[in-house]
Amino acid sequence: MALYGDDLRFAHVLADAADDITNRRFRALNLEVETKPDLTPVTDADRAAEESLRNVLRRARPRDAVLGEEFGRSGHGPRCWVIDPIDGTNNFVAGLGNFAVAIGLLDAGWPVLGIVYDVTRDRMYSAAKGCGAWLGDQPIKVLATPLADSSLIMMTSNPLDEQGRLPAYPIRWLTQTNWKMRMLGTAAIEAANVAAGVAHGAVTINGKLWDAIGPAALVLEAGGVVTALDGKPIFPFDLRNYSGARVPFLAAGPSAHGVLVNDTTKG
Ligand code: IPD
Ligand code: CA
Ligand code: CA
Repeated sequence: MALYGDDLRFAHVLADAADDITNRRFRALNLEVETKPDLTPVTDADRAAEESLRNVLRRARPRDAVLGEEFGRSGHGPRCWVIDPIDGTNNFVAGLGNFAVAIGLLDAGWPVLGIVYDVTRDRMYSAAKGCGAWLGDQPIKVLATPLADSSLIMMTSNPLDEQGRLPAYPIRWLTQTNWKMRMLGTAAIEAANVAAGVAHGAVTINGKLWDAIGPAALVLEAGGVVTALDGKPIFPFDLRNYSGARVPFLAAGPSAHGVLVNDTTKG
């Protein structure tokens, strides 16, 4: 049996726990919305969903560490569940849909398991190392074909870099290629679409670790490549001093990845 098979089955149960809450609270009239110090929104649903994920993890995987967007880090050790209870909170608050529960497992710094549950479309993307990558019960794989005029490229919703500047490459891609640029407002669903062979690539400039791990595990197991925007490796990721810094990442099919990196490094 594959090493992470039990974890993958368990992660489906975990995602269901958060799905119940986010589904119930979506479009609720009494949704409580606050602005966090980093000026991003958080709702009572984000917090309740993460609490629920943590409760299930505490009972079922007491030895594993947990890192979540809303309540930070608990525990130590080589295995760490990295969770984003709602990826796409702005979409959730606006009532658009297009938000996901994102769950990842890092083992010794490597993304070995990923779940992205697209709640309003009821689409469960899941993968674990050695267990394959799946959309529901259908196997998925990245696009191995070269970039073409009809290729979809997913583009992070905030393209400003750490210095608050707009890099030149998103403008080049919009104005000098025929690639179809798409901005979904959820890094997790964007990368899941790469894993599923819908998009050739996804660029996330402002993501944090919880935006990267579950989606990265999906894309890697589906045959793709995940690196920093300049092509440098992200993994193994050293979690010891992690306290919420950005983890920009590029997820793509093997052919598209080289072309995209070549262009992002030009600035
Ligand atoms: C955000 C979304 C967004 C991406 C940001 C993320 P949140 O996550 O994934 O698409 O551009 O970098 O922080 O705040 O909705 O969980
Ligand atoms: Ca997120
Ligand atoms: Ca979130």
